[in-house]
Amino acid sequence: MTDSAGAPLKGGGIWARKNPIRMLKDARHSLVFMSELWVERHRPQSVGEIRGQASVVSRLSVYAEHKEFPHLLFAGPPGTGKTTAAMALTKDVFGEHYRDNLLEMNASDERGLDKIRSKVKQFARTQPYGDAKFKIIFLDESDALTNDAQGALRRIMEQYAETCRFILSCNYSSKVIEPIQSRCAVFRFRPLADSEVLDQVKHVASEENVELEDDAAEALAKIAQGDLRRAITALQVSAAISETITRSIVYETSATAPPEALHQYIMACKDDGFHVARRRLQELLNKYGLAGTDFVGQLHRELYNVDFISEMDKLDLTEIMAEVDYRLVEGGGEKIQLDAMTAKLVTMLRN
Ligand SMILES: Nc1ncnc2c1ncn2[C@@H]1O[C@H](COP(=O)(O)OP(=O)(O)OP(=O)(O)O)[C@@H](O)[C@H]1O
Ligand SMILES: [Mg+2]
Repeated sequence: MTDSAGAPLKGGGIWARKNPIRMLKDARHSLVFMSELWVERHRPQSVGEIRGQASVVSRLSVYAEHKEFPHLLFAGPPGTGKTTAAMALTKDVFGEHYRDNLLEMNASDERGLDKIRSKVKQFARTQPYGDAKFKIIFLDESDALTNDAQGALRRIMEQYAETCRFILSCNYSSKVIEPIQSRCAVFRFRPLADSEVLDQVKHVASEENVELEDDAAEALAKIAQGDLRRAITALQVSAAISETITRSIVYETSATAPPEALHQYIMACKDDGFHVARRRLQELLNKYGLAGTDFVGQLHRELYNVDFISEMDKLDLTEIMAEVDYRLVEGGGEKIQLDAMTAKLVTMLRN
């Protein structure tokens, strides 16, 4: 028997029987851990349920209503609703038995040309099931397809256009070759606004019966940066720790330092000198479980909210952070790089 962190529980069984409250808590923890992922459970099932993405939703609603559409390409950052929209549209068009007329492939797993060609051919050979006018082939994460596979795909898309519609999704439309883009209606998904993330996390929290404090919901929106998957995942992780989700739980479980902690570090650089600032940084890394690149990224985002640093200094600091970030990614030693950054901040900001 193990606890939530995977460590063996000392005499777990007997101890648990003697402590009904503890038993309840354990049950809750394992429920939250073992139950389905909340991102899946609360994935919109119909185009009309998708949050934000107003222009995308209004166009897709017309397709859903007419049960007809051209090949589609969904492009945009992670966690913004591309896979959700593809599945929701499929369900709206085909109804309950949508699986009969859907071939779903993830191009990250099936990057090779032959696999795709043979699967598509086999699927497209037969007539659509029921009274559907066409079948849908959903190629998720299609920017992972090799160039050769994409080259062949454009031919396949034409060959089977009568009986099949393709929906492609990708993070970077620049990685999808032009001839494919020109065969598709292209939809650009945007990072969701904070207010949209806020609405959805509140909705999920109430469906899951967890108490989400207002500033905790705001923290979730802030760390998500428009990625709703990240917000809902952070919500579920926090819910495993406590029934009432507070702002500090959100920050501590999502490897994100709260703005005030970052401000304190900057203040220490300005007022207290190198050694204090360095210590503060180390405390921050330990408390929130940050890697060096996380810290630099978060500090960079927060820099523009600091009002006692001049515009010119902010520009210089941005360059310093970019340099340190690059060095860290290239394998530079974390401690020495972060110390170098602190040293530069202290030199620049000290009174
Ligand atoms: N616009 C949205 N409205 C409602 N829920 C959303 C939206 N976007 C994302 N979600 C939630 O986040 C989860 C992940 O979204 P989805 O799989 O659609 O992301 P994606 O855009 O396909 O990302 P990736 O590029 O990583 O594949 C969904 O299951 C859903 O719970
Ligand atoms: Mg996706």
